[in-house]
Amino acid sequence: MSVERGAGSGSLRETAAFIAQRLESFSPKIGIVLGSGLGGLASAVQDGVSLPYGEIPGFPQANVDGHQGVFTAGRLDGVPVLMQGGRFHLYEGHAPATVVLPIRICAALGIETVIITNAAGGIRFGFEPPLLMLIADHVNLTWQNPLVGPVAPGDERFPDMSSPYDATLRAMARKAALEAKIVLEEGVYAGVMGPHYETPAEIRMLERLGADAVGMSTVPEVIAARARGVRVLGISAITNRAAGISQSKLSHQEVLDAGRKVSADLEALIRGVLRQKPL
Ligand code: HPA
Repeated sequence: MSVERGAGSGSLRETAAFIAQRLESFSPKIGIVLGSGLGGLASAVQDGVSLPYGEIPGFPQANVDGHQGVFTAGRLDGVPVLMQGGRFHLYEGHAPATVVLPIRICAALGIETVIITNAAGGIRFGFEPPLLMLIADHVNLTWQNPLVGPVAPGDERFPDMSSPYDATLRAMARKAALEAKIVLEEGVYAGVMGPHYETPAEIRMLERLGADAVGMSTVPEVIAARARGVRVLGISAITNRAAGISQSKLSHQEVLDAGRKVSADLEALIRGVLRQKPL
């Protein structure tokens, strides 16, 4: 695996300083990570300033279809937000430190709360895609960890992970879902490395391990956020039934199409949370 920038605190500080300078006096309070096919929320940002990754010196590019590769800063329902449209995945060969670079940039900019979204396969019986699932907890099955190695400045060596997904934020999400009449399930997300979808036997294993949904992102980001005390709200868009649960073959196109179908609900849910001022 390649050694990439983002691992060193010097480059992280420089990148954060560059972004802060581009944002001028704007100071985002909430970071929002948009998953596959879920990038539409960025267009709802008022007076948004977009900062393509390509304009950030030395920043890696986001290369997956459905992942745009742009930060959008602006106000959403009055709350100053920084949206990350496009993420770096372990399956692209990125080092864990690169995968979590945007989260660490959020923390360096003073953001204390992040909303992380993803597309995921539904494992729990009865999960009919497209559907939203509040992430209550996760299982790290990526065999990677962004905290391995010297302690990054600002990180804890042995972070507590007994409540990785903030209970208050989850209560806000449930309230927002109720008000907007959105079906919101709650469950455990299994984070795997990918890039292939799982085999039916792997899905049966994940089910026995207590997973309700499976995906290829989020877990490293949540670990990095918690190591810095950043609060996390995690929401999965269940875009397909996991392998073996449906008889059909899985495809990235199916994931993107279902993501687009559920993105209006996801947008309403996130905006309902923001209106409760989760600062
Ligand atoms: N498995 C893993 N990752 C995914 C899936 C899946 O079924 N759907 C969307 N992301």
